[in-house]
Amino acid sequence: MITEIIKTDESYYVKKVFELGKILRDGGLVAFPTETVYGLGGNALDSDASRKIYAAKGRPSDNPLIVHVSSSEEVIHYVKEISPLEQKLMDAFWPGPLTIVFPKEDIIPSETSGGLSTVAIRCPENKATRALIKAAGVPLAGPSANISGRPSPTTAEAVFHDMNGKIQAIVDDGPCRIGLESTIIGIENNQIVIYRPGGITLEMLSSFAPTVVDQAILEAGSHPKAPGMKYRHYAPAAPLTVYTGNQEKVVRKILTYTTLSDKKYGFLVSRETAEKLPDGSPLFIWGSRDDKESLAHNLFNGLLYFNEHPVDQIIGEGTDYKGLGLAIMNRMTKASGYHIVVVKKD
Ligand code: TXA
Ligand code: MG
Repeated sequence: MITEIIKTDESYYVKKVFELGKILRDGGLVAFPTETVYGLGGNALDSDASRKIYAAKGRPSDNPLIVHVSSSEEVIHYVKEISPLEQKLMDAFWPGPLTIVFPKEDIIPSETSGGLSTVAIRCPENKATRALIKAAGVPLAGPSANISGRPSPTTAEAVFHDMNGKIQAIVDDGPCRIGLESTIIGIENNQIVIYRPGGITLEMLSSFAPTVVDQAILEAGSHPKAPGMKYRHYAPAAPLTVYTGNQEKVVRKILTYTTLSDKKYGFLVSRETAEKLPDGSPLFIWGSRDDKESLAHNLFNGLLYFNEHPVDQIIGEGTDYKGLGLAIMNRMTKASGYHIVVVKKD
């Protein structure tokens, strides 16, 4: 199969989108852009399409897929009910990076929901993608368009790297704005529970209802509510250790590695820290310390960078857990296999 790359900024997308919609409706796979990461789209109502998605990703089939809709009005067809709080959250954050877990209707096959009685739904911001969902006339199952375990793709090139020859097409709308997957929540006893942190932060959700984080995502070997959170994820080829905590001490700790010659170390650090590293150190600047949006945006590219420019070990600089920091540190925790070192001020 030849995987076609289709740009959205050319006028022919307007016509092409109907062809792509038909491919999807008929059970084919098309990767689509979103504000978070690229998704691997297939007809969410078609169990065979879901099976193809699991096969293309090499993903365990007990890990459910997120269902993408083009508007909040569509949700009621796929869920048992929408509570007033869920409605408020959809009104506030959709289209956008918030995924809500609902009790599912039978029309969603168990292949799509990974055997669960619930379904996770979101309405992405990207206009080309919403046009694609409309053209397909069906909701799109859309996991991140990477091979299972690798960092999620934030560019069409990264999708092509993992999916070339396995899917019909990739809709290319350039780099994703946020660069981290959506926040996933469920409502439990009128509380919002964050199953996966993302662009919609705990602070933003807290103004709607008391909000907590599923504690199971913080520990290795536990049973998180989002089944996918238990898997090793985002793993770069080299082991990663992340330092966080007192800024001055973190920088000092990172600098100690530049004096070691036992291994080739690569540095995934802020611009501020990069300026202190000796010239020629293998490094990826993943943003400015005070600009968490830039850190989120570049994180997966940073992890992929060290696959292209191999080192023996990656030393990462973490951030705090406030705002977008919770989502960033969640991905760093997974990518490092829980090798997060908190450096305290003495
Ligand atoms: O931003 C995103 O959410 C991207 C874009 C493409 O929309 N999609 C994405 O999908 O990250 P994926 O498949 O890589 O991650 C989906 C996560 C998994 O951890 C899965 O276990 C969880 O969502 N999930 C799906 N359905 C669920 C459900 N019914 N209950 C709890 N967790 C669910
Ligand atoms: Mg994923």
